[in-house]
Amino acid sequence: MKIMVIGGGGREHAIIKKIKENPNVTEIFALPGNGGIAADATCVAIGAKDIAGAVAFAKENAIDFAVVAPDDPLVLGMVDALEEAGIPAFGPKANAAIIEGSKVFSKNLMKKYGIPTATYEVFENAKDALSYLENAPIPTVIKADGLALGKGVIIAMSREEATDAVRSIMEDKVFGASGNRIVVEEFLTGPEVSVLAFTDGKTLIPMVSSMDHKRAHDGDEGLNTGGMGTVAPNPYYTKAIADECMDKIFLPTMAAMNAEGRTFRGCLYFGLMLTPNGPKVIEYNCRFGDPETQVVLPLLESDLLTVMQAVANGTLSDVDVRFRDGAACCVIVASKGYPVKYESGFPMLLPPDEKESFIYVAGAKKADDGTLLSAGGRVLGVTAVKDNLEEAIAAAYAMTEKVKFENGFYRHDIGAKALAAKK
Ligand code: AMP
Ligand code: GLY
Repeated sequence: MKIMVIGGGGREHAIIKKIKENPNVTEIFALPGNGGIAADATCVAIGAKDIAGAVAFAKENAIDFAVVAPDDPLVLGMVDALEEAGIPAFGPKANAAIIEGSKVFSKNLMKKYGIPTATYEVFENAKDALSYLENAPIPTVIKADGLALGKGVIIAMSREEATDAVRSIMEDKVFGASGNRIVVEEFLTGPEVSVLAFTDGKTLIPMVSSMDHKRAHDGDEGLNTGGMGTVAPNPYYTKAIADECMDKIFLPTMAAMNAEGRTFRGCLYFGLMLTPNGPKVIEYNCRFGDPETQVVLPLLESDLLTVMQAVANGTLSDVDVRFRDGAACCVIVASKGYPVKYESGFPMLLPPDEKESFIYVAGAKKADDGTLLSAGGRVLGVTAVKDNLEEAIAAAYAMTEKVKFENGFYRHDIGAKALAAKK
Protein backbone atom coordinates (compact mmCIF):
# COMPACT_ATOMS: atom_id res chain seq x y z
CA MET A 1 0.00 0.00 0.00
CA LYS A 2 1.11 3.51 -0.77
CA ILE A 3 0.42 6.05 1.95
CA MET A 4 0.54 9.85 1.84
CA VAL A 5 0.90 11.89 5.02
CA ILE A 6 0.25 15.63 4.89
CA GLY A 7 2.40 17.79 7.16
CA GLY A 8 6.01 18.10 8.15
CA GLY A 9 6.50 18.29 11.92
CA GLY A 10 7.25 16.01 14.84
CA ARG A 11 3.66 14.83 14.97
CA GLU A 12 3.83 13.72 11.34
CA HIS A 13 7.12 11.94 11.98
CA ALA A 14 5.48 10.01 14.82
CA ILE A 15 2.50 9.10 12.62
CA ILE A 16 4.79 7.98 9.80
CA LYS A 17 6.97 5.81 12.04
CA LYS A 18 3.88 4.11 13.43
CA ILE A 19 2.26 3.55 10.04
CA LYS A 20 5.52 2.02 8.83
CA GLU A 21 5.03 -0.85 11.28
CA ASN A 22 2.23 -2.20 9.06
CA PRO A 23 3.77 -4.90 6.81
CA ASN A 24 1.47 -4.05 3.89
CA VAL A 25 2.86 -0.54 3.59
CA THR A 26 5.27 -0.34 0.68
CA GLU A 27 5.89 3.40 0.49
CA ILE A 28 5.09 6.50 2.51
CA PHE A 29 5.16 10.00 1.03
CA ALA A 30 5.34 13.06 3.25
CA LEU A 31 4.01 16.37 1.88
CA PRO A 32 6.21 18.26 2.56
CA GLY A 33 7.91 16.26 5.36
CA ASN A 34 11.32 17.52 6.50
CA GLY A 35 15.00 16.58 6.43
CA GLY A 36 14.59 14.25 9.42
CA ILE A 37 11.36 12.65 8.23
CA ALA A 38 13.28 11.84 5.02
CA ALA A 39 14.83 8.89 6.88
CA ASP A 40 11.38 7.26 7.11
CA ALA A 41 9.42 8.58 4.12
CA THR A 42 9.84 10.06 0.67
CA CYS A 43 9.49 13.82 1.11
CA VAL A 44 7.69 15.69 -1.66
CA ALA A 45 7.92 19.47 -2.01
CA ILE A 46 4.18 20.14 -1.85
CA GLY A 47 3.04 22.42 0.97
CA ALA A 48 0.59 21.14 3.58
CA LYS A 49 -2.06 23.68 2.51
CA ASP A 50 -1.79 22.90 -1.22
CA ILE A 51 -5.02 20.98 -1.71
CA ALA A 52 -4.87 20.83 -5.51
CA GLY A 53 -1.22 19.76 -5.33
CA ALA A 54 -1.94 16.96 -2.87
CA VAL A 55 -4.91 15.65 -4.88
CA ALA A 56 -2.90 15.67 -8.11
CA PHE A 57 0.04 13.94 -6.45
CA ALA A 58 -2.22 11.28 -4.93
CA LYS A 59 -3.80 10.52 -8.30
CA GLU A 60 -0.51 10.42 -10.19
CA ASN A 61 1.06 8.12 -7.64
CA ALA A 62 -1.95 5.86 -7.03
CA ILE A 63 -2.02 6.61 -3.33
CA ASP A 64 -4.13 4.07 -1.44
CA PHE A 65 -4.69 6.07 1.73
CA ALA A 66 -4.02 9.63 2.88
CA VAL A 67 -3.59 11.00 6.38
CA VAL A 68 -4.15 14.74 6.77
CA ALA A 69 -2.50 15.74 10.04
CA PRO A 70 -2.41 19.58 10.39
CA ASP A 71 -5.34 21.87 11.16
CA ASP A 72 -5.06 24.21 8.15
CA PRO A 73 -5.63 21.70 5.34
CA LEU A 74 -8.42 20.03 7.33
CA VAL A 75 -10.22 23.32 7.89
CA LEU A 76 -9.66 24.20 4.20
CA GLY A 77 -11.28 20.96 3.07
CA MET A 78 -8.42 18.73 1.95
CA VAL A 79 -10.20 15.55 3.07
CA ASP A 80 -13.32 16.58 1.11
CA ALA A 81 -11.18 17.13 -2.01
CA LEU A 82 -9.30 13.82 -1.64
CA GLU A 83 -12.51 11.84 -1.15
CA GLU A 84 -14.13 13.51 -4.14
CA ALA A 85 -11.12 12.35 -6.15
CA GLY A 86 -11.65 8.81 -4.86
CA ILE A 87 -8.75 8.76 -2.41
CA PRO A 88 -9.67 7.44 1.04
CA ALA A 89 -8.39 9.76 3.75
CA PHE A 90 -8.11 10.03 7.51
CA GLY A 91 -9.33 13.30 8.98
CA PRO A 92 -12.56 15.29 9.31
CA LYS A 93 -14.20 17.06 6.42
CA ALA A 94 -14.25 20.85 6.51
CA ASN A 95 -17.75 21.03 7.93
CA ALA A 96 -16.54 19.06 10.99
CA ALA A 97 -13.05 20.56 11.23
CA ILE A 98 -14.80 23.82 12.08
CA ILE A 99 -14.85 22.51 15.66
CA GLU A 100 -11.25 23.78 15.75
CA GLY A 101 -11.49 26.33 12.95
CA SER A 102 -13.99 28.54 14.77
CA LYS A 103 -13.99 29.06 18.52
CA VAL A 104 -17.36 30.78 18.24
CA PHE A 105 -18.73 27.62 16.62
CA SER A 106 -17.29 25.32 19.28
CA LYS A 107 -18.43 27.48 22.20
CA ASN A 108 -21.97 27.72 20.78
CA LEU A 109 -21.99 23.96 20.18
CA MET A 110 -21.05 23.27 23.79
CA LYS A 111 -23.67 25.68 25.09
CA LYS A 112 -26.41 24.24 22.88
CA TYR A 113 -25.67 20.65 23.91
CA GLY A 114 -24.82 21.22 27.59
CA ILE A 115 -21.15 20.23 27.33
CA PRO A 116 -19.19 21.71 30.27
CA THR A 117 -16.95 24.64 29.31
CA ALA A 118 -16.06 28.15 30.52
CA THR A 119 -18.92 30.69 30.33
CA TYR A 120 -18.36 33.19 27.52
CA GLU A 121 -19.52 36.09 25.38
CA VAL A 122 -18.95 36.55 21.63
CA PHE A 123 -18.10 39.97 20.18
CA GLU A 124 -18.09 41.11 16.58
CA ASN A 125 -16.55 44.52 17.14
CA ALA A 126 -14.00 46.08 19.47
CA LYS A 127 -16.38 48.69 20.86
CA ASP A 128 -18.79 46.15 22.35
CA ALA A 129 -15.95 43.99 23.66
CA LEU A 130 -14.25 46.96 25.32
CA SER A 131 -17.43 48.11 26.95
CA TYR A 132 -18.12 44.58 28.26
CA LEU A 133 -14.59 44.42 29.67
CA GLU A 134 -15.15 47.52 31.80
CA ASN A 135 -17.01 45.36 34.31
CA ALA A 136 -15.97 41.81 33.43
CA PRO A 137 -14.33 39.64 36.08
CA ILE A 138 -10.49 39.61 35.87
CA PRO A 139 -8.49 37.50 35.02
CA THR A 140 -10.29 36.85 31.78
CA VAL A 141 -9.47 34.99 28.60
CA ILE A 142 -9.62 36.47 25.10
CA LYS A 143 -9.68 34.14 22.10
CA ALA A 144 -9.55 34.98 18.42
CA ASP A 145 -12.29 33.05 16.61
CA GLY A 146 -10.19 31.49 13.87
CA LEU A 147 -6.87 29.67 13.54
CA ALA A 148 -3.90 31.71 14.77
CA LEU A 149 -0.92 29.35 14.81
CA GLY A 150 -1.71 28.46 18.42
CA LYS A 151 -1.24 32.07 19.51
CA GLY A 152 -4.80 33.31 19.47
CA VAL A 153 -5.47 32.87 23.19
CA ILE A 154 -4.59 35.62 25.65
CA ILE A 155 -4.91 35.09 29.39
CA ALA A 156 -5.40 38.66 30.65
CA MET A 157 -4.38 39.10 34.27
CA SER A 158 -5.46 42.76 34.30
CA ARG A 159 -8.14 44.90 32.67
CA GLU A 160 -5.43 46.70 30.72
CA GLU A 161 -4.05 43.46 29.28
CA ALA A 162 -7.58 42.48 28.28
CA THR A 163 -8.26 45.73 26.46
CA ASP A 164 -4.84 45.60 24.78
CA ALA A 165 -5.64 42.10 23.55
CA VAL A 166 -8.99 43.19 22.11
CA ARG A 167 -7.37 46.13 20.33
CA SER A 168 -4.56 44.09 18.84
CA ILE A 169 -6.87 41.28 17.68
CA MET A 170 -9.86 43.32 16.47
CA GLU A 171 -8.35 46.66 15.47
CA ASP A 172 -4.73 45.89 14.53
CA LYS A 173 -5.80 42.48 13.18
CA VAL A 174 -2.64 40.73 14.37
CA PHE A 175 -4.26 37.40 13.45
CA GLY A 176 -5.90 38.73 10.29
CA ALA A 177 -9.48 37.67 9.60
CA SER A 178 -9.22 35.10 12.45
CA GLY A 179 -9.81 38.07 14.73
CA ASN A 180 -13.01 39.35 13.09
CA ARG A 181 -14.85 37.84 16.03
CA ILE A 182 -13.59 37.05 19.51
CA VAL A 183 -14.68 34.97 22.47
CA VAL A 184 -14.20 36.47 25.93
CA GLU A 185 -14.44 33.72 28.49
CA GLU A 186 -14.30 32.82 32.14
CA PHE A 187 -10.83 32.12 33.54
CA LEU A 188 -10.71 28.54 34.79
CA THR A 189 -8.18 26.85 37.03
CA GLY A 190 -7.02 23.27 37.51
CA PRO A 191 -4.70 20.71 35.96
CA GLU A 192 -4.85 20.41 32.18
CA VAL A 193 -5.23 17.11 30.36
CA SER A 194 -5.09 16.35 26.66
CA VAL A 195 -7.17 13.46 25.39
CA LEU A 196 -7.06 12.40 21.75
CA ALA A 197 -9.85 10.15 20.54
CA PHE A 198 -10.47 8.14 17.40
CA THR A 199 -14.03 8.51 16.19
CA ASP A 200 -15.97 7.56 13.08
CA GLY A 201 -19.12 9.34 14.26
CA LYS A 202 -20.63 6.15 15.69
CA THR A 203 -17.91 4.89 18.02
CA LEU A 204 -15.45 6.98 20.00
CA ILE A 205 -12.31 5.47 21.48
CA PRO A 206 -10.17 7.73 23.68
CA MET A 207 -6.41 7.20 23.49
CA VAL A 208 -4.12 7.27 26.49
CA SER A 209 -4.21 10.72 28.16
CA SER A 210 -1.27 13.13 28.11
CA MET A 211 0.08 16.36 29.56
CA ASP A 212 1.58 19.15 27.47
CA HIS A 213 4.05 21.76 28.77
CA LYS A 214 3.23 24.97 26.94
CA ARG A 215 5.55 27.53 28.50
CA ALA A 216 9.01 27.97 27.02
CA HIS A 217 11.09 27.65 30.19
CA ASP A 218 11.51 25.59 33.35
CA GLY A 219 8.96 26.08 36.10
CA ASP A 220 6.31 27.15 33.54
CA GLU A 221 8.08 30.46 33.01
CA GLY A 222 8.27 32.31 29.72
CA LEU A 223 5.94 32.63 26.78
CA ASN A 224 3.39 30.15 25.51
CA THR A 225 4.76 27.88 22.80
CA GLY A 226 3.42 25.15 20.57
CA GLY A 227 4.47 22.73 23.35
CA MET A 228 7.89 22.07 24.90
CA GLY A 229 7.30 18.49 25.95
CA THR A 230 4.72 15.91 26.92
CA VAL A 231 4.18 12.89 29.12
CA ALA A 232 1.60 10.13 28.90
CA PRO A 233 -0.44 8.98 30.68
CA ASN A 234 -1.48 12.09 32.64
CA PRO A 235 -1.65 11.12 36.34
CA TYR A 236 -4.42 13.64 37.08
CA TYR A 237 -6.68 11.77 34.68
CA THR A 238 -8.03 9.01 36.90
CA LYS A 239 -10.42 6.26 35.83
CA ALA A 240 -13.30 8.11 37.55
CA ILE A 241 -12.51 11.33 35.68
CA ALA A 242 -12.13 9.42 32.41
CA ASP A 243 -15.58 7.89 32.89
CA GLU A 244 -17.07 11.29 33.67
CA CYS A 245 -15.46 12.81 30.56
CA MET A 246 -16.77 10.00 28.38
CA ASP A 247 -20.35 10.56 29.63
CA LYS A 248 -20.44 14.33 29.85
CA ILE A 249 -17.99 15.47 27.17
CA PHE A 250 -16.72 12.94 24.61
CA LEU A 251 -19.90 11.09 23.61
CA PRO A 252 -22.06 14.25 23.82
CA THR A 253 -19.61 16.03 21.49
CA MET A 254 -19.78 13.20 18.94
CA ALA A 255 -23.59 13.22 19.16
CA ALA A 256 -23.74 17.02 18.91
CA MET A 257 -21.68 17.01 15.72
CA ASN A 258 -23.96 14.33 14.25
CA ALA A 259 -27.05 16.31 15.25
CA GLU A 260 -25.62 19.37 13.47
CA GLY A 261 -25.07 17.33 10.29
CA ARG A 262 -21.31 17.61 10.78
CA THR A 263 -20.26 14.05 11.56
CA PHE A 264 -16.67 14.05 12.76
CA ARG A 265 -14.39 11.27 11.49
CA GLY A 266 -10.76 11.39 12.50
CA CYS A 267 -8.87 12.26 15.63
CA LEU A 268 -10.78 14.58 17.93
CA TYR A 269 -8.60 16.33 20.49
CA PHE A 270 -10.12 17.36 23.82
CA GLY A 271 -8.13 19.98 25.73
CA LEU A 272 -9.58 19.66 29.22
CA MET A 273 -9.19 21.47 32.49
CA LEU A 274 -10.01 19.56 35.67
CA THR A 275 -11.64 22.42 37.56
CA PRO A 276 -12.99 22.31 41.14
CA ASN A 277 -16.41 22.04 39.44
CA GLY A 278 -15.49 19.08 37.27
CA PRO A 279 -13.77 18.61 33.92
CA LYS A 280 -14.42 21.32 31.36
CA VAL A 281 -13.44 21.74 27.71
CA ILE A 282 -10.78 24.40 27.14
CA GLU A 283 -10.50 23.69 23.43
CA TYR A 284 -11.22 21.18 20.72
CA ASN A 285 -8.74 20.39 17.98
CA CYS A 286 -9.76 18.56 14.83
CA ARG A 287 -6.51 16.58 14.67
CA PHE A 288 -3.71 14.88 16.56
CA GLY A 289 -1.97 17.22 19.02
CA ASP A 290 1.65 18.17 18.67
CA PRO A 291 3.62 17.13 20.78
CA GLU A 292 0.94 14.90 22.39
CA THR A 293 1.08 12.48 19.45
CA GLN A 294 4.79 11.93 20.11
CA VAL A 295 3.96 10.26 23.48
CA VAL A 296 0.57 8.72 22.66
CA LEU A 297 1.37 6.81 19.46
CA PRO A 298 4.48 5.04 20.82
CA LEU A 299 2.19 3.53 23.48
CA LEU A 300 -0.31 2.28 20.87
CA GLU A 301 -0.02 -1.49 20.47
CA SER A 302 -2.64 -1.83 17.76
CA ASP A 303 -1.87 -1.18 14.13
CA LEU A 304 -2.36 2.55 13.45
CA LEU A 305 -3.11 2.24 9.74
CA THR A 306 -5.82 -0.36 10.40
CA VAL A 307 -7.44 1.92 12.98
CA MET A 308 -7.25 4.93 10.66
CA GLN A 309 -8.81 3.00 7.79
CA ALA A 310 -11.60 1.84 10.09
CA VAL A 311 -12.24 5.46 11.12
CA ALA A 312 -12.47 6.49 7.46
CA ASN A 313 -14.74 3.52 6.61
CA GLY A 314 -17.04 3.96 9.59
CA THR A 315 -16.09 0.56 11.04
CA LEU A 316 -14.20 1.65 14.13
CA SER A 317 -16.29 -0.64 16.37
CA ASP A 318 -14.77 -3.65 14.56
CA VAL A 319 -11.15 -2.91 15.39
CA ASP A 320 -9.08 -3.34 18.47
CA VAL A 321 -7.46 -0.18 19.86
CA ARG A 322 -5.07 -1.15 22.63
CA PHE A 323 -2.37 0.76 24.48
CA ARG A 324 0.50 -0.82 26.35
CA ASP A 325 1.00 -0.22 30.07
CA GLY A 326 3.87 2.04 30.93
CA ALA A 327 4.61 5.65 30.14
CA ALA A 328 6.21 7.92 27.58
CA CYS A 329 8.02 11.25 27.76
CA CYS A 330 8.92 13.62 24.91
CA VAL A 331 11.39 16.46 25.41
CA ILE A 332 11.26 19.13 22.71
CA VAL A 333 14.57 20.63 21.66
CA ALA A 334 13.90 24.09 20.23
CA SER A 335 16.05 26.77 18.62
CA LYS A 336 17.45 29.36 21.05
CA GLY A 337 15.08 32.33 21.18
CA TYR A 338 11.95 30.33 20.31
CA PRO A 339 9.06 31.26 20.36
CA VAL A 340 10.07 34.86 19.54
CA LYS A 341 13.11 35.11 17.30
CA TYR A 342 15.44 32.31 16.33
CA GLU A 343 17.85 31.26 13.65
CA SER A 344 17.93 28.12 11.54
CA GLY A 345 20.63 26.23 9.69
CA PHE A 346 22.71 24.88 12.58
CA PRO A 347 24.25 21.43 12.07
CA MET A 348 22.93 18.65 14.29
CA LEU A 349 24.24 15.23 15.17
CA LEU A 350 21.61 12.87 16.55
CA PRO A 351 22.23 9.67 18.50
CA PRO A 352 20.82 6.60 16.72
CA ASP A 353 17.32 5.44 17.68
CA GLU A 354 17.12 2.69 20.26
CA LYS A 355 14.24 0.28 20.84
CA GLU A 356 12.59 2.44 23.50
CA SER A 357 14.21 5.84 22.88
CA PHE A 358 13.95 7.68 19.58
CA ILE A 359 13.89 11.10 18.02
CA TYR A 360 11.05 12.60 16.03
CA VAL A 361 12.30 15.43 13.88
CA ALA A 362 10.05 18.51 13.85
CA GLY A 363 12.15 21.00 11.91
CA ALA A 364 15.22 20.13 9.84
CA LYS A 365 16.74 20.33 6.39
CA LYS A 366 19.27 18.06 4.76
CA ALA A 367 22.37 19.87 3.47
CA ASP A 368 23.89 18.72 0.15
CA ASP A 369 26.56 16.78 2.04
CA GLY A 370 23.88 14.99 4.08
CA THR A 371 24.33 17.01 7.28
CA LEU A 372 21.08 17.59 9.16
CA LEU A 373 20.47 21.31 9.72
CA SER A 374 17.98 22.80 12.15
CA ALA A 375 15.00 24.58 10.58
CA GLY A 376 12.31 26.37 12.52
CA GLY A 377 11.42 26.88 16.18
CA ARG A 378 10.73 23.40 17.48
CA VAL A 379 13.39 21.12 16.05
CA LEU A 380 13.42 17.72 17.78
CA GLY A 381 11.16 15.61 19.97
CA VAL A 382 13.31 13.24 21.97
CA THR A 383 11.03 10.47 23.18
CA ALA A 384 11.31 7.45 25.44
CA VAL A 385 8.82 4.72 26.33
CA LYS A 386 9.35 2.73 29.52
CA ASP A 387 7.45 0.72 32.10
CA ASN A 388 6.87 3.78 34.26
CA LEU A 389 7.03 7.56 34.13
CA GLU A 390 10.24 7.96 36.17
CA GLU A 391 12.15 5.74 33.76
CA ALA A 392 10.61 7.34 30.68
CA ILE A 393 11.64 10.82 31.83
CA ALA A 394 15.16 9.67 32.72
CA ALA A 395 15.59 7.90 29.38
CA ALA A 396 14.27 10.85 27.35
CA TYR A 397 16.71 13.20 29.07
CA ALA A 398 19.60 10.73 28.75
CA MET A 399 19.05 10.72 25.01
CA THR A 400 18.54 14.49 24.84
CA GLU A 401 21.97 14.96 26.39
CA LYS A 402 23.49 12.95 23.54
CA VAL A 403 22.11 15.35 20.91
CA LYS A 404 24.75 17.64 19.43
CA PHE A 405 23.00 20.87 18.47
CA GLU A 406 24.74 24.07 19.49
CA ASN A 407 21.77 26.38 18.99
CA GLY A 408 19.29 24.14 20.83
CA PHE A 409 17.60 24.50 24.20
CA TYR A 410 15.09 22.42 26.12
CA ARG A 411 13.20 22.41 29.38
CA HIS A 412 14.69 20.34 32.17
CA ASP A 413 11.44 19.68 34.03
CA ILE A 414 9.22 17.89 31.53
CA GLY A 415 7.15 15.42 33.56
CA ALA A 416 8.17 16.85 36.95
CA LYS A 417 4.65 18.02 37.71
CA ALA A 418 3.24 14.68 36.64
CA LEU A 419 5.68 12.82 38.88
CA ALA A 420 4.77 15.03 41.84
CA ALA A 421 1.07 14.44 41.17
CA LYS A 422 1.63 10.69 41.16
CA LYS A 423 3.16 10.88 44.64
P1 AMP B 1 -5.13 27.10 23.37
O1 AMP B 1 -4.30 27.98 22.47
O2 AMP B 1 -6.58 27.10 23.07
O3 AMP B 1 -4.50 25.74 23.51
O4 AMP B 1 -5.00 27.76 24.83
C1 AMP B 1 -3.76 27.95 25.35
C2 AMP B 1 -3.79 27.79 26.83
O5 AMP B 1 -4.53 28.85 27.43
C3 AMP B 1 -4.47 26.52 27.34
O6 AMP B 1 -3.67 25.40 27.31
C4 AMP B 1 -4.79 26.95 28.76
O7 AMP B 1 -3.64 26.80 29.57
C5 AMP B 1 -5.07 28.41 28.63
N1 AMP B 1 -6.52 28.67 28.64
C6 AMP B 1 -7.36 28.66 27.58
N2 AMP B 1 -8.62 28.94 27.99
C7 AMP B 1 -8.56 29.13 29.32
C8 AMP B 1 -9.54 29.46 30.32
N3 AMP B 1 -10.83 29.65 30.01
N4 AMP B 1 -9.12 29.58 31.60
C9 AMP B 1 -7.82 29.42 31.91
N5 AMP B 1 -6.86 29.11 31.03
C10 AMP B 1 -7.22 28.97 29.74
N1 GLY C 1 -0.30 20.64 21.84
C1 GLY C 1 -1.47 21.38 21.55
C2 GLY C 1 -1.89 21.34 20.16
O1 GLY C 1 -1.52 20.49 19.38
O2 GLY C 1 -2.68 22.19 19.78
